[in-house]
Amino acid sequence: MTVHGVTPFNAEPPRAALADRVLTPLDAFYSRNHGPIPALDPGGWRLRVDGLVGRTSSWSLTELRDRFGSHSETATLQCAGNRRAGLVEVRDIPGEAPWGPTATATARWTGVRLADVLDDAGVDPAATDVAFLGTDVSEAATPPQEFGGSIPLRKARMPEVLLAWEMNGEPLPPVHGAPVRVVVPGYIGARSVKWVHRVTVADRPSQNFFQTSTYRLLPPDVDPARTAPGDGVALGLVAVNADFLAPDDGAEVDCGPTRVTGYAFAGGDRTVVRVDVSPDGGSSWIQADLGEQAGTWAWRHWSATVDVRPGEQLVLARAWDSSAALQPADPASVWNPKGYANNSWARLRLRGRSAHTA
Ligand code: MTE
Repeated sequence: MTVHGVTPFNAEPPRAALADRVLTPLDAFYSRNHGPIPALDPGGWRLRVDGLVGRTSSWSLTELRDRFGSHSETATLQCAGNRRAGLVEVRDIPGEAPWGPTATATARWTGVRLADVLDDAGVDPAATDVAFLGTDVSEAATPPQEFGGSIPLRKARMPEVLLAWEMNGEPLPPVHGAPVRVVVPGYIGARSVKWVHRVTVADRPSQNFFQTSTYRLLPPDVDPARTAPGDGVALGLVAVNADFLAPDDGAEVDCGPTRVTGYAFAGGDRTVVRVDVSPDGGSSWIQADLGEQAGTWAWRHWSATVDVRPGEQLVLARAWDSSAALQPADPASVWNPKGYANNSWARLRLRGRSAHTA
């Protein structure tokens, strides 16, 4: 893992650890934290459901499971800061970790449907949003507070949104939110609140620091130190994105036909429908072979064979989603002061090693 920070713990795996398999093994799943990782006793954990509901309720893990059953969904999580390093190359982004392309991963999540819990509580017709609160207190927030965020009620009512206690058939590890986390497929990872202990139905988005002041897209000319809560645009649905998984960026490879692989993710309720690869920095393009589509909420792996020539070579990749959206070419065009949502074309620098120089 590349560790971007020890406390709070932030780390992403090498590209190769994500290659060629839809489900990410737990030990290769990136970890993004804004505070300490709480050690919670599953037996003592309770979830409070309150706000604009007919009946405020409190649930243990066993009660939730017994009342609402368990449902599974394969879903990709993608941090809003994924691929920030590509924006840092355009212009420095002080104070934010230079995440590479692996702050994203996919798991089979199992838990109860949030929609069932909300229906049971009885949602008031005036409600528009559903907020989540985690147990971890972040000192990075002003003032320090538990990590939280919200999603629109219409998304919260969709069957894919889970209160999950299992990941790839195993109990959720503490670092990924044990005993229970929210999983909001198609949205930035920040809305999938870990160590969740409270769900609040409201008539406005959450006022939590991580909703009002972080995870917002600011125009390029804005100084983030001079912003007020609510400035910029809240990030929610993930835009179509892709990157290479093998070979590694900067790799030296034998000249000749070389297999390159990667992932593409559409976000929202869109899917990846096409990926193109350019072996020569954008002069020509070939269509990549697409791997399995493991449901609406999962990324799609792809592969292509490119001809590697002696010396430096820039290989590009770009994906389209089912809304016909294409990734933007240029990282400079999507640069923003906090370095979120870099979905510009993926760039892979290869060095071709010819037989007689090997
Ligand atoms: N939930 C809590 N309680 N605290 C956090 O710091 N980080 C969020 C989200 N949920 C966070 C959280 C962010 S920004 C992301 S990208 C995902 O968790 C990362 O989930 P993972 O660490 O399981 O990969």
